[in-house]
Amino acid sequence: MVQFTSAILALAATITGAQAAFKTACTFPYDVCGWTLTNNVYGYDLATLQEAAAAAGQDAGNGTILFDTIYNCHADGVIIWNHHCDHGCDASLSVPNANCRA
Ligand SMILES: *[C@@H]1O[C@H](CO)[C@@H](O)[C@H](O)[C@H]1NC(C)=O
Repeated sequence: MVQFTSAILALAATITGAQAAFKTACTFPYDVCGWTLTNNVYGYDLATLQEAAAAAGQDAGNGTILFDTIYNCHADGVIIWNHHCDHGCDASLSVPNANCRA
């Protein structure tokens, strides 16, 4: 059911033209964890993360692929799925550049 809902959200994002939806844009040259992007500050919506994951050929229905992942921030709040962290993603202390956990 979770995956079914995700598929619908991804489809909706595609139909509406895949505009990134967020409260605060993350901008170049920052790298941010997926779970950071969905927090109250950035406020990216799930469909935007799914769109970025799908564009990178990833499984957008898989939560760890969406959240435990480093995204590169580009102009206008565009996020590019970069790589999944097998041991989780850390918002580093030298924010906002994220790192994968060892
Ligand atoms: C989700 O992705 C992780 C990391 O690649 C993988 O280990 C896991 O098997 C995937 N889960 C599903 C349900 O595909």
